[in-house]
Parts: sequence; structure tokens; C-alpha cells
Amino acid sequence: MRHLLSAGDLSRDEALLILDTARELAQVSGRSVKKLPTLRGRTVVNLFYEDSTRTRISFEAAAKRMSADVINFSAKGSSVSKGESLKDTALTLQAMGADGVVIRHSSSGAARRLAGWVDGAVLNAGDGTHEHPTQALLDAYTMRERMGRLEGLRVAIVGDILHSRVARSNVLLLSTLGAEVTLVAPPTLLPVSVGAWPCAVSYDLDEVLPKSDVVMMLRVQAERMQAAFFPSAREYSRRYGLDRDRFARLPDDAIVMHPGPMIRGMEISAEVADSPRSTITEQVTNGVSVRMAVLYLLLGGSESAIGN
Ligand code: CP
Repeated sequence: MRHLLSAGDLSRDEALLILDTARELAQVSGRSVKKLPTLRGRTVVNLFYEDSTRTRISFEAAAKRMSADVINFSAKGSSVSKGESLKDTALTLQAMGADGVVIRHSSSGAARRLAGWVDGAVLNAGDGTHEHPTQALLDAYTMRERMGRLEGLRVAIVGDILHSRVARSNVLLLSTLGAEVTLVAPPTLLPVSVGAWPCAVSYDLDEVLPKSDVVMMLRVQAERMQAAFFPSAREYSRRYGLDRDRFARLPDDAIVMHPGPMIRGMEISAEVADSPRSTITEQVTNGVSVRMAVLYLLLGGSESAIGN
């Protein structure tokens, strides 16, 4: 594995190696001194052309916990505003000695393009509506920790599938790992290609919930919409929002996930988001361990992950 561009590129063994390595590295986050020398001397560039809170900060924390040097690049305030291309920006950063480039970009395929231009490892931190592989890995990690397994786990992914890179990466990864995924959305928020995805599809959330071990709610991505995809926010929430009554339809041990950022009151009620069966903050914590694991496996060479 030279880059991490798509969850679909990962074999079952590679995906499990990342999850197992993340579990080992999670021990470090529980220590009073959260630091390992593993990536000392390596440079990681965070190249963010789109806004981010969780992904950008957790990649930075992950790299720093492993003693890498971190350069944070945000398109806002850079020479991108003067017309500099992605390729020239990437080559500039490479000239400064980047061993790994973490990229978030609004264009689907930007991470793969970048991988053809730079020598270092490229990690896709979200490219347009295409993929977000480290989100899927941290989601799978969280499911395995909470539920004890992934094989045969029934996962419902609910909401704006059409614009969701998280949904696509989760479907690809979870199917590789043996989970059974059902996408639940109004027909207008499903991609036309969904029939070829390795998952089931439903328009009826109330019917799917009692048969789910995990329900993952997605944000409606208004910033990517140029048309009306549903009559109103209230109508969307009535059909596809997870409120107290719908939550009661889930099996007793089922968990609720959300990649964030969430719109409380629209796709998920505050009561459900804050429930003990919600893993939303755990997902953020696990994101640091999973990103440590992928940085270690891509940049760490033959050194031991956590030393002796
Ligand atoms: N889940 C996720 O990608 O969140 P951010 O946009 O805050 O990084």
C-alpha cells in the first residue's frame, strides 16, 4: 500500500491490519505523555482546500503524536487565490520535503491526481462527493470496538447518500469486511449508480431500523445542492430524521453513529445524539488512532509502531 485513495483499494487483510494497528496505537492516546518517536524526521503536509474540523485536526494530532513534522496548508490565505493550480501547489510542498500529503479537495478524483504528481504517500481526506477512506476506517473501528465484530453486522446508512463520500467509502469498506449495508434515503438523494454498489437500498427508515445493529445518520449537504431535493427540512426530518420515537424502534443493543458535522434537529435529535448509545464523540477519538495507523503504515517503514 503506497497511498490511501479509496476504501475500495483495501483488501480485507490490509483493512484489518489498519484496524489492529489502530487498536495498538490507541494505548498511546491513553498515556499521560501521548508521544512516540515512530515518525521522527518525517514531514506530513495537511493540504486542505475544503473546510474541516475533525479530519484536519485529527490528522495533525496523529502525526504529532508520532513525532512527525507537520505543515498545515489551507487554501484560504494561500497563493491559490492568485490562481496557482493544485499541481503547482503540490510540487511546491514536495520541494519542501513532504513524505506524506493529506489532501481534502472539493473535486472528486483530486487525491488520485495528486498521487501521480508527488513522490510521497497521498492520503485522501475527502475528495468531493467521491470518497473519505479514513472516515470509513474509523467508523469500522468504532463498530468493531462497540459491537465486537464486523462480519454479519447489519448497518443502515441514512440520509444524503447522493453527496456523501462517507457513504461510498463505508459501503466499500464494510462490504469487504463482511458487514451487510442498507442505504436509506429518498429517491432524489440516491446516486443513479447505486444499483451497482455492494449494498441494499430502501426508502423506508421505519422498516429498516428494527433490523439494524448500527444506524449511521448523514448530514444533508446543502452546500453541494443546486436544486431542491426534498420539499422542506421539516418534511425531510419527518421521514428520515432519527428522533426519540424512531430510536425506540432499534434493537436494544444497537448503536447510533454520525460522522459529523451534524445538524441537531434535522437528521438527528439532540436527545439521540447525546444518548449513551451514540458513538459520535468516540468516533472522533478513534479517528486519531486510525489516522496514526495509516500514517505509520504508509510512512513508518519497518519500525515498530509503538516501540518496545
Ligand atoms: N467527518 C468529517 O470529515 O468531519 P470534518 O469535515 O469536520 O473533517
